[in-house]
Amino acid sequence: MSTKLCHLDDLNDPGSMGFELEPPVFIIKKNSQVYGYLNQCPHTGVNLEWLPNDFLNIDKSCIQCSLHGATFTIESGSCIQGPCNGTGLTPVRLSIDSDGYIKLE
Ligand code: FES
Repeated sequence: MSTKLCHLDDLNDPGSMGFELEPPVFIIKKNSQVYGYLNQCPHTGVNLEWLPNDFLNIDKSCIQCSLHGATFTIESGSCIQGPCNGTGLTPVRLSIDSDGYIKLE
């Protein structure tokens, strides 16, 4: 069963949004593409965001963990800098319906 998260237009581009599900997830829109991951840093397992719905670094080019600053690519979730370099975020499967709603599959 899929879970409706939000509408494509609810996200800035680039922009991010978190969802307090079990387990928690977050999504990112960049260049009109949407990516989703579990909200769990591979370093210690904490939630990543700096502030609610704020998962990106200053220039919004990467995902950045608020605790120790690990940096992850938006497109793959791979950690490219920081204490868990070489690991990665866990992707979640998303779909977008014909009305533009993003769903967690
Ligand atoms: S908990 Fe995320 S970098 Fe340490």
